[in-house]
Amino acid sequence: MLKRIKRHQVRVGMFITDIEDPLRDEAAPMRSFLLKDEGAAAKVRASNIISLVIDTRRGVDVGTGRPLPEAQENRSSLSDLSRAFTQTEIKEALQTIEQTRPLLDTLFSNVRLGGAARFEPADRAVEQIAKSMESNPAALIGITRLKTKDEYTFLHSLAVSALMVHFGRFLKFDEQAVRILGISGLLHDVGKMLMPDAILSKKGALTDEEMAEVRTHPVRGYELLSRQSDMPQIVLDVCLHHHERIDGKGYPFGLSDKQISTQARIAAICDVYDAMTSARSYKRAWTPAETLRMMLKSEGHFDRHLLAQFNASLRASFSPIPPNERRSGARAIQ
Ligand SMILES: [Fe+2]
Repeated sequence: MLKRIKRHQVRVGMFITDIEDPLRDEAAPMRSFLLKDEGAAAKVRASNIISLVIDTRRGVDVGTGRPLPEAQENRSSLSDLSRAFTQTEIKEALQTIEQTRPLLDTLFSNVRLGGAARFEPADRAVEQIAKSMESNPAALIGITRLKTKDEYTFLHSLAVSALMVHFGRFLKFDEQAVRILGISGLLHDVGKMLMPDAILSKKGALTDEEMAEVRTHPVRGYELLSRQSDMPQIVLDVCLHHHERIDGKGYPFGLSDKQISTQARIAAICDVYDAMTSARSYKRAWTPAETLRMMLKSEGHFDRHLLAQFNASLRASFSPIPPNERRSGARAIQ
């Protein structure tokens, strides 16, 4: 039986099948292993790891620690949101999500059926997102954090797009460049539509073969988007390079530093930020503050200057003032 435990519950003899480390690349290899000595167990307890998944059929049990059901986690997050935003703000953000849903559903299901990833519906969706991010950025970002398993791909794409629009405006990109950033965010993971659902929704560790398949999604997405003559070059670049890292340890090419475009660096930051602040079947959602702290602490993953700017862009728009204490304009996010 698979069981999620906290790092302080780790002990020798446990069989570890997955680790919830906020800075671990989700597509990086994670091998199952038996924890054999106290030194290794102590290292885990002193680490940044939040939780681990153990297999009690192959190692010792802890006797406690049931995973938080997704519905329960999302219910508590929803009540957090209603404290942070007014009903109107929540309604407007939900409207944006519902307006973009049919466009993205059609686009993504078309790709799954072997069709093209067309520019036009993505552009129309980003028009809605960019409008909503002008008036109500924190509510849209807050609501897209509440992802159920079925909606994860749709809401992650929407959230990365919204974050890239917001960040692009903070960096004073012109509106056309902001729009292209938004489309890049929406389509960055389109290659995943070509992966078997059994791999994408698998709980626990992927096999080496499954991992290798997941790591092809930037190239497969790029190839798909390249078939569209009207697809901007930046959208292709972001799709291909959003898993590269500044220290050269990313994939698919291991590019480093200046070899990675500004837009792909922005996408890497927004992609990881949204993944970390969202609940998954195997991990709880981190708060924005925890997420930013961990990202700022990480070495070599992100462009440090851009990451500091991203931090400032969120702090500038998302003040921790609850709605009943606000006079105007300020937004809250937890
Ligand atoms: Fe990706």
